[in-house]
Amino acid sequence: MLNNNAIVGVIGSGAMGAGIAQVAAVAGHKVVLYDNNAAALDKAKGNLIITLQKLQEKGKIADAAAIINRFSFAAQLSELSNCNLVIEAIVEKLEIKKSVFSELEKLVADDCVLASNTSSLSITSIAAACTKPDRVFGLHFFNPAPLMALVEVIPAVQTEPSLIPAAKALMQQWGKVPVIAKDTPGFIVNRVARPFYGEAIRIYEEGIADMATIDWALTEIGGFKMGPFTLMDYIGHDVNYVVTETVFQSFFFDPRYKPSFSQKRLLEAGWLGRKTGRGFYNYAADAIMPEANKDTVLGYRIVERVLVMLINEAVDALHLNVASAEDLELAMTKGVNYPKGLLHWCDEWTADKCLALLDALYHEYHEDRYRASALLRKKGTERERFFPAQ
Ligand SMILES: NC(=O)c1ccc[n+]([C@@H]2O[C@H](COP(=O)([O-])OP(=O)(O)OC[C@H]3O[C@@H](n4cnc5c(N)ncnc54)[C@H](O)[C@@H]3O)[C@@H](O)[C@H]2O)c1
Repeated sequence: MLNNNAIVGVIGSGAMGAGIAQVAAVAGHKVVLYDNNAAALDKAKGNLIITLQKLQEKGKIADAAAIINRFSFAAQLSELSNCNLVIEAIVEKLEIKKSVFSELEKLVADDCVLASNTSSLSITSIAAACTKPDRVFGLHFFNPAPLMALVEVIPAVQTEPSLIPAAKALMQQWGKVPVIAKDTPGFIVNRVARPFYGEAIRIYEEGIADMATIDWALTEIGGFKMGPFTLMDYIGHDVNYVVTETVFQSFFFDPRYKPSFSQKRLLEAGWLGRKTGRGFYNYAADAIMPEANKDTVLGYRIVERVLVMLINEAVDALHLNVASAEDLELAMTKGVNYPKGLLHWCDEWTADKCLALLDALYHEYHEDRYRASALLRKKGTERERFFPAQ
């Protein structure tokens, strides 16, 4: 039932749900958008109309009114009964998601398929709340959904296998770049990206460099669009810290994902980043932004340390079959706009250099956090590449 004529239901009309509903309607589907909060639904409706009209003015879509007409806004879950695909994007709480899925299943037809947009919960445990768990899978969009190309497609343990290529094809029809990820904590992006934040904070906590210098090094030398401290302030510490803590707990407290006290304290202080005017940086109008120390030797040291940790995460995800090498590269370039795929970056630096850098950190700290993936050790020792040389 995953075709152009599918009626798409979206549950939750917040940042993600409204964005996903927009993408589906622009792709030509009839969309039923449901929220249990009438004010949130009203706000989403108003915003969607404004957004689609602006897109028409800019020439990005031909007929905003036709797209708006494809929407219906539902105040009851039962109004999703004739949908063929339902995507859930409600609050990130397992028990609430489970109860919504179990209630939804009683309302829709047997061949309606059900997806969750969860960032960090197990798709398998959401599916387990259903009597037909084989029709449940993950469709993880990135924020803002209309602009970010990546969608992680995640089969639960119980998912009917033929559903995954069908979901992938549908996402391609929606103009998205789908990748397939195993149902493991953080899927691809939220797992592999952890060191971008965690290792940057560690460098700062050790006093090797200040935030402005680390941000400068990773943007000017590393080529990332935003430095980690600027990015964490932008995402908000309520979101970014909670993802880190969830991934850490879900990995049975693997020290590679250990959260930091610096970020936890910001959360406790209510310094959530840009949205509260203060996070790692102070955004008050009269605040003076700290200056970076543009010492290139120090800058390269910072980039090497963060990047080798990111590369190790990507290599380990490949080693544990979380995703294919191609999908890992697409995920990091399309989901978080990294300037290069991490496996290509490893090939460019060479696996033996990456392994030597990581082993030097391990030797210095004797912390499990710096252990090299078995696959990086193999590639480094045997001087192999992940992709053929161009
Ligand atoms: N915000 C992001 O960057 C992002 C990115 C990818 C995935 N996600 C995931 O998407 C989901 C939604 O996140 P968001 O940022 O859009 O949240 P949000 O808080 O902006 O919106 C959630 C909406 O769900 C509604 N809701 C809550 N419980 C409901 C219920 N039982 N029935 C119907 N509606 C209900 C709320 O009224 C609200 O409008 C979460 O699972 C989150 O992890 C978020």
